[in-house]
Amino acid sequence: MTATTFTPRVFSGIQPTNHLQLGNYLGAVKRFVEMQNNGIETVYCIVDLHAITTWQDPADLRHATRELAAGYIASGLDPERSILFNQSQVPGHAQLAWIFNCVARVGWMNRMTQFKDKAGKNAENASLGLYAYPSLMAADILLYKATQVPVGEDQKQHLELTRDIAAKFNHDFKVDFFPMTEPVIEGTATRVMSLRDGSKKMSKSDPSDASRINLTDDADTIAQKFRKARTDAEPLPGTIDGLKDRPEARNLINIYAALAEQPPEAVVAEFAGKGFGAFKPALADLAVARLSPIADEMARLMADPAEIDRILGNGAERANAIAQPILNDIYDIVGMIRSRPV
Ligand code: TYM
Repeated sequence: MTATTFTPRVFSGIQPTNHLQLGNYLGAVKRFVEMQNNGIETVYCIVDLHAITTWQDPADLRHATRELAAGYIASGLDPERSILFNQSQVPGHAQLAWIFNCVARVGWMNRMTQFKDKAGKNAENASLGLYAYPSLMAADILLYKATQVPVGEDQKQHLELTRDIAAKFNHDFKVDFFPMTEPVIEGTATRVMSLRDGSKKMSKSDPSDASRINLTDDADTIAQKFRKARTDAEPLPGTIDGLKDRPEARNLINIYAALAEQPPEAVVAEFAGKGFGAFKPALADLAVARLSPIADEMARLMADPAEIDRILGNGAERANAIAQPILNDIYDIVGMIRSRPV
């Protein structure tokens, strides 16, 4: 049997919970925008169904969904060239997730570290949706037969599970239907760390606002957060090797490199021997120069929510046009009768 060739297609998603933070921007959104220029179809999603796996106030969820759409667009995502939509407007995500719930094994879900982190000590009280979360994520990707998924490092295990689900489906139904999706985890900012603790990733849900830069922070807040960022007392080294046991310093250098679009080696060379008293203000200036135009544009877009909703609706139409025929094929493979006129 000759191996099926799959049309290259990029898919990724972000949860509309709280504000976008610098890790999401550098590890995800900025890279999504870069991939939009590679001549491949790009599909980017606001995963509102994933968001409700933990409690969301409905009004806050609507606001966060629009704000995330604004964040994508303000960062350079072009809703004409890419498909931008919110997950719940394309019913196939939830439909395929159910089928994948019947393909994935409980033992696979039990190994997911993100569930353990999020559910914490009280796993008995976590929603069933939080447990099944990775199956919905696999459905997001495979509903479009996506071949490449740009993400930060924390999503790696979920993408391995997606491949396991695709392989088991192909095997069980004796088809070569789903591609083995490739994770794209590249660049210097695939794991941006907390500004308060170099061993924890920067996160939207960290209780300490000082641990992260939000895309909506103003220039003073950004400068203040970098000034207070935890560091050691040593001057910066002359080589990358010198950052090995200095996670906080390495994190700030990586953030600078990603914002400046330079290799970390060049940043280290530029600041060799300087203290954080010199480096932090330079980092804050660079961050403000890069992020404040995005924040301004987000605010402008948020003034017209109807236009954002129109863009999302239009994106959902286009996404559904790709998804529906694929879902029909899946139903046929699984043995579902489809006799309702459409
Ligand atoms: P979410 O919403 O937690 O994060 C969105 C994206 O941002 C990346 N990211 C980071 N990158 C670098 N440093 C950080 N500190 C950092 N924090 C977050 C994440 O890796 C991610 O790429 N499960 C996903 C959403 C999702 C999805 C999908 C992604 C649902 N379906 C299908 C890809 C494909 C999540 O919770 O991402």
